[in-house]
Amino acid sequence: MTIYFISSNPQKVKEIKELTAGRIAIQHINHEYPELQLDTIEEVARASANHIRHMKWVKTPFFIEDSGLLIHALNGFPGPFSAFVFDKIGNEGILKLMADIKDRRAVFKTVIAFCSGVNEEPRLFTGIVEGRIADSIRGSGGFGYDPIFEYEGRTFAEMSTEEKNRVSHRGRAFMEFLNHVEDSGIAVGASSGAR
Ligand code: IMP
Repeated sequence: MTIYFISSNPQKVKEIKELTAGRIAIQHINHEYPELQLDTIEEVARASANHIRHMKWVKTPFFIEDSGLLIHALNGFPGPFSAFVFDKIGNEGILKLMADIKDRRAVFKTVIAFCSGVNEEPRLFTGIVEGRIADSIRGSGGFGYDPIFEYEGRTFAEMSTEEKNRVSHRGRAFMEFLNHVEDSGIAVGASSGAR
């Protein structure tokens, strides 16, 4: 069975294509949808999936994913506001906010919201990775906050997609999700049709 992934972010599609290859058949639907400003990434993902499942254009089963960066010393900011903050101040702005802060601990989180049918409430799968905010922008790979998120000495932007996927928030959320769809028989060992 094909599972539809709804996103307008080509970099996420690239990572997800690699993460699901050989395990489930997914098809990308390039469609925008409203992202509400809510208190947690989980609530944002759930609200988006609930919105989408009532749209005429939806195909099921489908999933979306919402991610964010949570900085310990800033009480979890930007968290659910990660996209807005990235657009407004970017990585330079985050480094300025962190200029005099010694505690650089940060977490990346991905929440996948999966709907098996239009009448089904979304089911959530979460992945996190703990790292730190780098002292400067480093690396040319990845996207978004990758050049300032350091994991075991390297920023995500200094890793290949395969290396990032092995340890990332998205990679971990997908392991949970893939186990669920395989165990429940929704998808059985199909090869990836993502494009
Ligand atoms: P969203 O999940 O598309 O809402 O992403 C929120 C913000 O976090 C956007 O600015 C993304 O570019 C950024 N972002 C999402 N996933 C990642 C990632 O894996 N690495 C770096 N930045 C990310």
